[in-house]
Amino acid sequence: MSEIYRASTTAPVNIAVIKYWGKRDPKLNLPTNSSLSVTLSQADLRTHTTASCSSTYPKEDTLLLNGSPQDVSGARTQACFRELRALRKQLEDSNSSLSRLSELPLRIVSENNFPTAAGLASSAAGFAALVRAIANLYELPSSPTDLSRIARQGSGSACRSLFGGYVGWEQGSATDGSDSVAFQVAPASHWPNMRAVILVVSAAKKGVSSTTGMQTTVATSSLFAARANETVPRRMAEMQKAIQEKDFEAFGKVTMMDSNSFHATCLDTYPPIFYLNDVSRAAIKVVESINAAAGKIIAAYTFDAGPNAVVYYLEENEKEVAGLFKAAIGEKDGWKCERGEKVEANGANLEKIKEEAGVAVELLKDGVSRVILTGVGEGPVKTGETLIDEKGEPIL
Ligand code: PMV
Repeated sequence: MSEIYRASTTAPVNIAVIKYWGKRDPKLNLPTNSSLSVTLSQADLRTHTTASCSSTYPKEDTLLLNGSPQDVSGARTQACFRELRALRKQLEDSNSSLSRLSELPLRIVSENNFPTAAGLASSAAGFAALVRAIANLYELPSSPTDLSRIARQGSGSACRSLFGGYVGWEQGSATDGSDSVAFQVAPASHWPNMRAVILVVSAAKKGVSSTTGMQTTVATSSLFAARANETVPRRMAEMQKAIQEKDFEAFGKVTMMDSNSFHATCLDTYPPIFYLNDVSRAAIKVVESINAAAGKIIAAYTFDAGPNAVVYYLEENEKEVAGLFKAAIGEKDGWKCERGEKVEANGANLEKIKEEAGVAVELLKDGVSRVILTGVGEGPVKTGETLIDEKGEPIL
């Protein structure tokens, strides 16, 4: 009987604190600026992927995500498959005892442990898991840096999900993208008490995709060049220093200013792109009130290409940040998880905040559909838990 070869991994979501926005090469996903993110804990948000190959499979490569077949014919997925197969072929050509897995069809099965409907950027975890799982299947000696170069071609931000902790993506200057790779600024263990509460906000309609959005911004925004050429390079240095020194005030300030700068270039795009809505702005207002009450920055908001707020804070300030949000927005899905139970609703400053930002608190109460409590976490982890059985059938 022909063998079914299998390998599995999990991979994390990352949320940028210095945003990637703009491509200098759309085909290779080469960015116009470097970026930096925090890898989030896989206990709360992760993609689990099993990659398999066999001569018994039908000729076409396939991918099943949360039980639904996905189109793998797109240039991005194809680029990942092609590059990984080429690396496997090199190994096979140099060692004739190796099975010719590079010639076999791939069957891939993936599952997210978070609701897809939440509109969280799942493509980063998805492509990181896909690339890592196939690299494991092919027993490639590739480093996370090498794999980040491949995952980047699937989705730019995916390259940062190959590492845990605090992760940069160097924009690079080579036209072939060889130096546009992710690097670890610091492991999760360096600053392990970084936490995040994600406020999931439902959007009235689907926003502009990141690819379309960035291309329109590059083509039309006059703020964009200053952001890419001056603001971000300066902030990359400031942010790395803040992380090295575990300086939350500096980390928080740069995080919020960079999110604001990114969304300013979106508004400056023609026609304008609005990712933030009234609920997002209410989250900003409440974070400002939390910081004003503390007399320093203890909470930092950031927003990607959608209205969800991600608020970073340190564990020692959980009561003042997550606890305040719990008191302000009341019962929501997500508070009932193990960590959520631990977060005590903290009404201490709520009245004061309601005086300053009463409308914002009401907007948040109505507009946040669920919360996710998480924190900094590790990079991809190889797992024996398979989503494909020994006969090659998906385990659903
Ligand atoms: O990787 P993409 O194409 O999904 O773009 C991600 C863009 C942002 O999430 C807005 C910023 C970032 O750096 O993750």
